[in-house]
Amino acid sequence: MASVLGLFIGGVVTAIPVVTGVAEGVSYQKQQNEEAANETRMIKFNMNVSCESDDELVDEVDQGIVVLRHDKVWIVPRDDNNKPIPPVDTIKPPLHAFAGFYIQYPDDDRFPAERGLVSTISDDPPMLNWIYVDRTTYELRYGNRSASIQHIVGEWDWTDDESAVTLDGWEGFVAVDEGDGEGTKWGGEGLRWAVYFDKDDNGLKGKRGKKPMLEVNLERKLQSEEEQLKQLEDANRKMQVKSQGDLKTQFTAPAADKKKKKVWGK
Ligand SMILES: *[C@@H]1O[C@H](CO)[C@@H](O)[C@H](O)[C@H]1NC(C)=O
Ligand SMILES: *[C@@H]1O[C@H](CO)[C@@H](O)[C@H](O)[C@H]1NC(C)=O
Ligand SMILES: *[C@@H]1O[C@H](CO)[C@@H](O)[C@H](O)[C@H]1NC(C)=O
Repeated sequence: MASVLGLFIGGVVTAIPVVTGVAEGVSYQKQQNEEAANETRMIKFNMNVSCESDDELVDEVDQGIVVLRHDKVWIVPRDDNNKPIPPVDTIKPPLHAFAGFYIQYPDDDRFPAERGLVSTISDDPPMLNWIYVDRTTYELRYGNRSASIQHIVGEWDWTDDESAVTLDGWEGFVAVDEGDGEGTKWGGEGLRWAVYFDKDDNGLKGKRGKKPMLEVNLERKLQSEEEQLKQLEDANRKMQVKSQGDLKTQFTAPAADKKKKKVWGK
C-alpha cells in the first residue's frame, strides 16, 4: 500500500503545479505536502450517486455516477463496470467520470486553510481541476485555481464512516433537472441532472425556478490499487513522452532524462 501511494504522491501530486495549473505558485508546496502526507485523504475515488425519494424521477439519478462536462458536475446512469452511460451515443469526447481526492486548497487568504477537492478532468493529458460551488448559483463546477478562488472551495470532507462526501459539514447535495425535455440543450448531449449544493438548506430557494430537484448522496467508491497504479503508470508514460519530445530518447539517454524531469517538476 505504502509504495503505491508513495508513487501516487510522487507521480501525481508533486506534478500538480506544472501539469495542471491547479496550484499556481510553489509557495504552497509545503502546505500541500503536509496534507499530501495523509495517505487516506489521497486515495482516489469515483462518486456513486444514491437517492431515496418517492418522486417518479428517482430512477434518473439513483444508482448514477458523477461526471464532469461543460465546466459543470452532472449525474448520469452507470453500467455494471461502474462506467458512465452517455445519454446519447455520439458524445465526444466520452463523458469523464469524477475521479478525485482531497487536498488543501492553496490560498493564504483562507485561514484556517480549507480542504479542497480535486478531480481529473481528462486522462490524456492527465489534468486535475478543483471542484467548487459557484457562490451565486450554488451549482457545482470545476476549474483551475483562478476560476475557483472567488467561490466556495471547501471545506470538503467525508461522513464519519468515510463513505460519502460532505461540504461545509453536511451532505447538502441535490440534483436539479436542467434538461429541456428534448435533449437539445448542452450541446445536444442529453445531459439533464446537474449537481448543486443546497447551501442555505431551503431547497435552493430562488436559485432553480420551477426546475425539479432531488436530494442525492455522493458516495465514495474507492478506486482499487490496481486502477490507481494503472492510471499512474499511464500518466507517467505520457509525461515522459512529453518532456522528452519522443520515446526514443527515453531509452537511450537516461541521464538527460533525469535532468529534464527536474526542470519539468520545478
Ligand atoms: C488524516 O486525516 C484523518 C481524517 O481527517 C485524520 O483523522 C488524521 O489525523 C489525519 N492524519 C494525519 C497524519 O494528518
Ligand atoms: C484558468 O482557467 C481559465 C478559464 O476558466 C483560463 O482562462 C485560464 O487561462 C486558466 N489559467 C491557467 C493558469 O491555466
Ligand atoms: C458503487 O457502484 C458499484 C457499481 O454499481 C457497486 O459495485 C459499488 O458497491 C458501489 N459503491 C458504493 C460505495 O456505493
